[in-house]
Amino acid sequence: MRRAVLAGLGHCVPDKVLSNAHLEAMMDTSDEWIRQRTGICERRISVPGQAASDLAIVAAREAVERAGVAAESLDLVVCGTVTGDMPFPSTACFVQAGIGATKAGAFDVGAACAGFIYSLAIGSAFVESGQAETVLVIGVDVLTKFVDWGDRSTAVLFGDGAGAAVLRPGEGDRGVIKTVLLSDGNGAPHIDFQVGGSRYPHGSPEAQGRRPAVAMNGAEVYRFAVRAMGDACLRVLAEAGLQPSDVDLFVPHQANLRIIRASQERLGLTDDRVFVNVQHYGNTSGGSIPLALYEAERSGRLKPGALVLTVGFGAGLVWGANLIRW
Ligand code: ACO
Repeated sequence: MRRAVLAGLGHCVPDKVLSNAHLEAMMDTSDEWIRQRTGICERRISVPGQAASDLAIVAAREAVERAGVAAESLDLVVCGTVTGDMPFPSTACFVQAGIGATKAGAFDVGAACAGFIYSLAIGSAFVESGQAETVLVIGVDVLTKFVDWGDRSTAVLFGDGAGAAVLRPGEGDRGVIKTVLLSDGNGAPHIDFQVGGSRYPHGSPEAQGRRPAVAMNGAEVYRFAVRAMGDACLRVLAEAGLQPSDVDLFVPHQANLRIIRASQERLGLTDDRVFVNVQHYGNTSGGSIPLALYEAERSGRLKPGALVLTVGFGAGLVWGANLIRW
């Protein structure tokens, strides 16, 4: 069977580091609270003028180079983001132009923190079906531009970052084996950014009194995340005829260490089979899973043939998982 192989990965995070100590000076919080409740020690923050596509282009160039393909050979650019440069055009189009992918179609996927899970599912379907030979899949978000720095319950959680993967067809075992994508729009009010769309346009009477910032019911999202991550993982494994014990590396969305550990426990995985970098980057939303895959591979934790389980959840509500034979 023809499968989509992740032939090259790339990444980009802003240079600017914001530690928990910096946050202590900005708001009523503490390093201890943030570490205990989230596992986060520091995050990267984009500077004014640094937009999602700036990070995505750097990540994309690296992925294309590592895959050993020419940008002109890309058939498709799929970008998972909810913090794109502008409402339109799509951030994927800025990347397409930025890297010179002159023959590629380009579009964004709005699945928040599950943006890479969804984008990888779409990109791999194009490759599997033979509609595309070479696809660039990106996850990028710059949520720190959209948080209310006066709201300590959300501001401490997020960081900015991008990751990218070039997909190429492969035969045999290697590649994306199975995907599950799920959603529950009834959970939309649990995490949203309301202002700036057609419901509450910027500066409109409808937008009056609404805060132009990420709003989140943390406890509700936490409960959902723990249930959804475990469910998606067990389902994708069952559909592939595999068991949690077959997983060599679990690469979950890096939102909160406690959520990661709860999912790990449900799957019965030991620490050596779980990748964690939330301590350095916080929740980079769409960037989190490809950044984690990138670091896992660079640190030698992703060997050819390894069974990799990725899982994510986010605003929507959406969630899903990809099972990949590395
Ligand atoms: N520093 C110090 N105290 C804080 C802070 C802070 N940064 N934030 C909140 N607190 C306080 C609260 O005010 C509360 O005080 P109170 O008891 O006096 O009212 C207390 O700490 C406890 O707050 P809880 O909400 O009960 O803390 P909890 O243990 O639930 O952790 C957290 C909060 C970390 C937000 C957790 O609920 C969580 O991780 N939720 C999931 C968030 C998430 O993953 N979001 C990403 C969604 S994905 C996407 O699409 C973007």
